[in-house]
Amino acid sequence: MPSIIRTWFNVSVLIVTCFSLGVLSTGRLNVLFIISDDLRPTIGCYGDHMVKSPNIDQLASKSNVFHNAYAQQAVCGPSRTSFLTSRRPDTTRLYDFNSYWRVHAGNYTTLPQYFKSQGYTTMSVGKVFHPGIASNHSDDYPYSWSITPYHPPSFAYEKRKVCKGGDGKLHTNLLCAVNVSEMPLKTLPDMENTEEAVRLLKSAKETDGPFFLAVGYYKPHIPFRIPQEFLKLYPLENMTLAPDPDVPRGLPPVAYNPWTDIRKREDVQALNVSFPYGPIPKEFQLRIRQHYFAAVSYVDAQVGRLLSALDDLGLAKDTMVVFTSDHGWSLGEHGEWAKYSNFDVATRVPLIVRVPGLTSAPQELGEKAFPYIDVFRPSVRQLSLGRAVKDMVELVDLFPMVSELAGLKPPPPCPRSSFGVRLCTEGTSLAPSFHSPDRRPNSEDIAYSQYPRPSDTPREDSDLPLLADIRVMGYSIRSCDYRYTLWVTFDPASFQANMTDVHGQELYLLQDDPGEDHNIYDDDEHGSVLRKLDGRLHWTISLRQHLLYFNSGSKVKGMF
Ligand SMILES: *[C@@H]1O[C@H](CO)[C@@H](O)[C@H](O)[C@H]1NC(C)=O
Ligand SMILES: *[C@@H]1O[C@H](CO)[C@@H](O)[C@H](O)[C@H]1NC(C)=O
Ligand SMILES: *[C@@H]1O[C@H](CO)[C@@H](O)[C@H](O)[C@H]1NC(C)=O
Ligand SMILES: *[C@@H]1O[C@H](CO)[C@@H](O)[C@H](O)[C@H]1NC(C)=O
Ligand SMILES: *[C@@H]1O[C@H](CO)[C@@H](O)[C@H](O)[C@H]1NC(C)=O
Repeated sequence: MPSIIRTWFNVSVLIVTCFSLGVLSTGRLNVLFIISDDLRPTIGCYGDHMVKSPNIDQLASKSNVFHNAYAQQAVCGPSRTSFLTSRRPDTTRLYDFNSYWRVHAGNYTTLPQYFKSQGYTTMSVGKVFHPGIASNHSDDYPYSWSITPYHPPSFAYEKRKVCKGGDGKLHTNLLCAVNVSEMPLKTLPDMENTEEAVRLLKSAKETDGPFFLAVGYYKPHIPFRIPQEFLKLYPLENMTLAPDPDVPRGLPPVAYNPWTDIRKREDVQALNVSFPYGPIPKEFQLRIRQHYFAAVSYVDAQVGRLLSALDDLGLAKDTMVVFTSDHGWSLGEHGEWAKYSNFDVATRVPLIVRVPGLTSAPQELGEKAFPYIDVFRPSVRQLSLGRAVKDMVELVDLFPMVSELAGLKPPPPCPRSSFGVRLCTEGTSLAPSFHSPDRRPNSEDIAYSQYPRPSDTPREDSDLPLLADIRVMGYSIRSCDYRYTLWVTFDPASFQANMTDVHGQELYLLQDDPGEDHNIYDDDEHGSVLRKLDGRLHWTISLRQHLLYFNSGSKVKGMF
């Protein structure tokens, strides 16, 4: 840690003490919970020097920035249901988009529902719960929300033919940089989301009592329907391919995701890419990367508008801000695109948590915490990177962490079988990491993820099999220095994994292989490592089968 930042943190320790007293006397913090869709940590504050994200970076400079945060399943519906209920996919029993946990698994209390039960006004804007069956076609209203969740009208055009192709005609393309004034309704969903969220902040200011406002941005999810000017930030000649654009030798075919949703877009269809391994022509790969980065800058601009409004309304000093994503996105690494896998590029997410007075000095009177930064006008201001937290954390940890930091009691740890328990968490509160900035992360900590497949080799539905078609489950353990994934037979009727029927295994030692390109599972040299890990995962899965993840307060994920 650079000494200037360290000095600042010594100062902040004093502030923490004052702040704790402050909370006792002034009550609870409001929560602004921002979720981006399909965003991996390709943002400035995570060390990406190419991507322009000044507003998120500014938030990070006043926050704890979690560098090892992982989603429990790298696809929208299952990940969102998992982190909003603080239960793993084996407890929500949602691996596709087609069931509602309250009916299909258990009547679990969600994060916003918990805040609502504690007297908060809870509000949802955009994509927070996965829409449709997964949230009973209501975004879990009225259980989770005080008012009807908001959906931007312009989202109705998201999948229509609105992208101008090289032929001048309109298509359902992947690459969809548009002139916003030519769009139906002359706006885009995330712009409408920001406007609505600002409107709700204004009305919350007029209302007594704390609020929990969740804002779910739709980008950088495909199609890349974004204002065309953001492409200018990323000239094509400056784009590079992924460092490892080929499918790695030694990758079990069951681990590979064939990015079917990308192939279905008209501009990609026209390329006649071979199934399942491709590749996409290099020139087009560069353009996908360019559009993804531009979409990230577009989201950054929305976050900037939202935070500056929070600030202008005088709410920043009483509001904690969480910024995260449901999972990552492969940008050509391993010859893959999209999410749908256990690779880090799919499971790792940004997680930035700002608690006023705790992660940043209290605001001086008249001082702006979040002035809007125009990404098109280079700024000379140097932002600190925020406080880097290296602990392995999971999105199921959010529920207890956000509760505790806002001033509520965190939910209790789930018992051995928790289907019948409404309020409990399979995560761990990270709040202690905020109070002791100098403590070292536990190197034994791990994060779990999993991904289902319908077959051992890639087919059309491998990215997103229906529950009834799942035959294999890949359970992953991610520690700070390795990832181990065990692919085993899974029975969707009984929700049981057969740990002795192994379909494939992957082991990556990340110090030498941070991109996860060399599956060393069969490498004898590492036999001892494998024996240790295998025992751990078998033990873990037998826990999973009986849903014994957390045993009355003991932290399973750090025991070994
Ligand atoms: C589910 O829980 C909610 C409160 O969290 C309760 O209002 C509702 O009646 C419960 N539904 C069932 C079917 O038990
Ligand atoms: C799901 O929505 C339907 C239709 O609004 C409603 O009748 C049903 O009670 C809801 N399910 C639950 C568990 O609340
Ligand atoms: C965007 O569309 C409007 C309306 O068609 C047009 O006047 C404007 O010149 C376009 N802008 C760009 C940059 O193409
Ligand atoms: C593109 O790359 C050139 C050469 O490295 C650099 O000078 C320029 O600033 C880059 N452009 C952008 C918009 O990042
Ligand atoms: C793709 O295949 C179609 C039909 O087989 C053919 O007409 C077209 O020229 C091919 N396009 C490319 C880019 O190879």
